Amino acid sequence: MVFNTATTIIFGADGYIGWPLALHLGARDNDKIVMVDNFSTRKLVKSVKSDTLIPILSMKERLNTYTKQTGKKNLVFVEADIQDPRSVDRIIAKFKPDSLVHLAQQRSAPFSMVDQEHILYTELNNISTNINILFSMIRHVPHAHLLKMGSMGEYGTPGIEITEGDLELTRKGKTAKVMFPRMGQSWYHLSKIFDTYNVAMANRVYNIAATDVMQGVVFGTRVDEITNDAFATRFDFDSIWGTVINKYVVQAVLLNKLLIYGKGRQKRGFLSLYDSINCLTLLHDHPAETGQYRVVNQLDEIFDTIQLAEKVQKIGREFGVETEMEFVENPRVEREDNEYEVQHSILPSLGFKREKEMEDVLREIFEDVLKNKKRAASMKKLIYPTVYWRTATAMQVKDFAMPRSLMNTKREK
Ligand SMILES: NC(=O)c1ccc[n+]([C@@H]2O[C@H](COP(=O)([O-])OP(=O)(O)OC[C@H]3O[C@@H](n4cnc5c(N)ncnc54)[C@H](O)[C@@H]3O)[C@@H](O)[C@H]2O)c1
Repeated sequence: MVFNTATTIIFGADGYIGWPLALHLGARDNDKIVMVDNFSTRKLVKSVKSDTLIPILSMKERLNTYTKQTGKKNLVFVEADIQDPRSVDRIIAKFKPDSLVHLAQQRSAPFSMVDQEHILYTELNNISTNINILFSMIRHVPHAHLLKMGSMGEYGTPGIEITEGDLELTRKGKTAKVMFPRMGQSWYHLSKIFDTYNVAMANRVYNIAATDVMQGVVFGTRVDEITNDAFATRFDFDSIWGTVINKYVVQAVLLNKLLIYGKGRQKRGFLSLYDSINCLTLLHDHPAETGQYRVVNQLDEIFDTIQLAEKVQKIGREFGVETEMEFVENPRVEREDNEYEVQHSILPSLGFKREKEMEDVLREIFEDVLKNKKRAASMKKLIYPTVYWRTATAMQVKDFAMPRSLMNTKREK
């Protein structure tokens, strides 16, 4: 019997979200999953003298283990820098995917704020990877679906409910639909905003079907398919690459402290890694219609950073980890007591349900961090903030030199 199989390309498949997504889509049926990455996150995290707290295998080892355990060979890896339009074009022309997932970006806000060189890298990388995918898609697979990962941070904190899709605006008695304002507060978030406009433009002009997912902050170490250490996904915890909940657990274990930025009343939306993968899978399986540009907001819950710290304190106690809150100068420029209301109804309408409660995911993070406590101890000094939004004005900050191999420009002799 012959089964029809589909092909999906995941750009950024070595990453925190990309690897579990590839595992999840690969393991569930026989569809071909083409994974593309240039390992830049591995290099960039090392450039600030940090590393993933949970050790991860090389892509070759990951795929060997996958084939041994599942007996399948439907995950295919291509190493490529998708800033290079020719590489992207070759990959898309060769595999003719039905679906493309774009996660391949420099995704740290503090990293993008280090200095001018890091701003340039972030914006050039993120904008060009997106445009390269859009144009090769238009040339070779104009009917495929693009699932592009945006960020809730694109909206900033506008003080009114954030709509899912366009905002209705009335002026001088006339009403129009306009894109919801985007006021992100880092150069990284600005790069995501440019992406949003570029995807919407490609939709208007070339009619491509695209879903732009605005995800909140992701936390956690596991998904259902991460059944052993060989399948672990990266876990960043330092002040530059870590995200708040993941960082808190490491701070608790190593310092018995939780670092609160400023007043700690900044509210944001959060979701677990399980739900990030489930949401992307659901949107992959229910693509935007032909010619549709669909914006989807995803978050499970909204908390301020003190409320989150209280949750971490509570679960920490179950593991014998006592913590106190330490208030530190906020390195970011942001409102510290914002309102936050977000419309998010598309995913529930497709049947999305939260897989695990935050407290259960926190328990898993504590287990995994405690298991790697020794390894973490050697990186303790990376926990306190080092990149301050307002002071990062130098052309280049020596301590955090960008790896030359990732810069396109040649240095003057
Ligand atoms: N982690 C979060 O909390 C979160 C929240 C919302 C949105 N996002 C978005 O989700 C996406 C994935 O995030 P993540 O946390 O998995 O980050 P990550 O850094 O772990 O993964 C990104 C992957 O893309 C690769 N990549 C980057 N530039 C590339 C290039 N030029 N060519 C080839 N590969 C390249 C990196 O090597 C890395 O493996 C990003 O777009 C990010 O902005 C993440």
